[in-house]
Amino acid sequence: MINGLGGKKVVASTVIEKDQRLSASILWRLQAAFYQQSGITAWNQGAVPYYITNNPYIAAAYARVIQGFLRDHPNLDPQHPVYILELGAGPGQFAYYFLHHLRTILEGTRLAGLRFVYLLTDLAESNVNFWKQHPLYQAHLQAGRLDMARFDPLTDDQIHLVYSGQVLSAVDLVNPLIVLANYFLDSLPADLFSVHQGMLCEEQVTLTSTAPALDPNDPAIMSSLEVDFRPRLISPQYYHRPEYNRLLQSYLNSLEGSYVLFPTGALDSLERLLALSEGRMIFLTADKGEHRLEALRSPLQPEISVHGRGISMIVNFHALDTFLAARGGQAFHSKHRDEGLDITAYLVEDPPLDGAETRGTFHAAIEAASPDDFFVLKKAFEPHYASSTLDQLLAFLRLSGYDPQIFKSMAPYLLDQAPGADPRQQERLFEAAGEVCKLYYPIGEPFDLLLALARIYIALSAYPEALDCLRLSQVYRGPTRETDALIAQIQPLVWD
Ligand SMILES: C[S@@+](CC[C@H](N)C(=O)[O-])C[C@H]1O[C@@H](n2cnc3c(N)ncnc32)[C@H](O)[C@@H]1O
Repeated sequence: MINGLGGKKVVASTVIEKDQRLSASILWRLQAAFYQQSGITAWNQGAVPYYITNNPYIAAAYARVIQGFLRDHPNLDPQHPVYILELGAGPGQFAYYFLHHLRTILEGTRLAGLRFVYLLTDLAESNVNFWKQHPLYQAHLQAGRLDMARFDPLTDDQIHLVYSGQVLSAVDLVNPLIVLANYFLDSLPADLFSVHQGMLCEEQVTLTSTAPALDPNDPAIMSSLEVDFRPRLISPQYYHRPEYNRLLQSYLNSLEGSYVLFPTGALDSLERLLALSEGRMIFLTADKGEHRLEALRSPLQPEISVHGRGISMIVNFHALDTFLAARGGQAFHSKHRDEGLDITAYLVEDPPLDGAETRGTFHAAIEAASPDDFFVLKKAFEPHYASSTLDQLLAFLRLSGYDPQIFKSMAPYLLDQAPGADPRQQERLFEAAGEVCKLYYPIGEPFDLLLALARIYIALSAYPEALDCLRLSQVYRGPTRETDALIAQIQPLVWD
């Protein structure tokens, strides 16, 4: 079967790679090169989708689960930080929202005294450099709440922090480790197997390209690749690790007529993180994936999705569940997946933790008020902004946690209604604009959100706030004709 990455018909093609184990394919190296080369442009040009895992709603939900996890640990050592390690953080926007929410919900509670250090990490150094220079992260860095590193859990046993210069290893992690990873496990290498008439086959990958002139190490080749799988009969004693082989054997026994992805990259990462945390961690993740054995059964080869020149595949959470259960871990999964996000929390502790508080907050924040459901509703409501009242728009903006992306789509309608709003509504709109402004984490996207906020403030005659937004817009984007003209217009109305 052809699993076309570029969606093009093969005319004349060159073999780039032949009969390779999928986890060892150059596809993963090309993907790493793509993320490294593109840096923040992978996201701000729209190549890689990121909204669903980078919004205030999901960040607030995660913060609540972490609050539950912390409550499950009454004996945390206050002399040592609680480290929150985000893997494959990409644009780094989730962390900004998460820090905001965690600090807000812990304020005034007995957990407020704990020292948190958020570790933003990624394989791509270009992302680390982007975060390090981001104006909004400077205060967090200076306060010691944040640090960042190039870190690959597939290979690294230590975390080399670029701001403090500290090198973290297992001995430094006195308190349990909090690991967050969104759209990350699906980007890690996996192997593909098939079960047919009681036989287990490894599906080996062959890559051909219709653009032979391109360097096979250049990620630009990705869009011209055709992926072909060919079965090779193997024994279930395929890996060096007996527990992987036991799992493979169980798939041979239970998935007749099916393909199955084996998430070696995710398993190896978990193993390394368990070593780093000395077996005490929560791993909270959102991904496209499947944790029910029955739902893994598929007679079709799994799709390789392409975003920009990055790839991803469905995560076999069933394998991760089984692997961690053998280490006393427990798994909480979101039960439904309308938009394909499987939100999962793995709790590992030796001796095993009851985890009642984590379970409760996971239920409240991930099940009952699902970020996935919120995403579905957002998409449904979006086409109706034009016909909605100001109160309805503001209600949704508040419910979203003052999501700057939602504000962006609503901005023209908020602006239309601002002048005719009654004083109470104007006050609410003013408050909402302030909250959106506080949360806005620019990544160099084309839309000037601060200019849109300034226009709303001007419509509310809130000139000092409008001026602040315009000046901030110029800090991020440089002066433009529009911001210059508006500054000139309102400057005389403001006492500086
Ligand atoms: C699909 S993006 C997800 C970004 C972000 N977490 C989000 O939700 O938008 C995958 C990210 O994982 C990073 N990545 C891929 N393989 C990695 C690895 N082995 N170790 C660390 N980061 C990796 C990429 O550089 C990229 O930033």
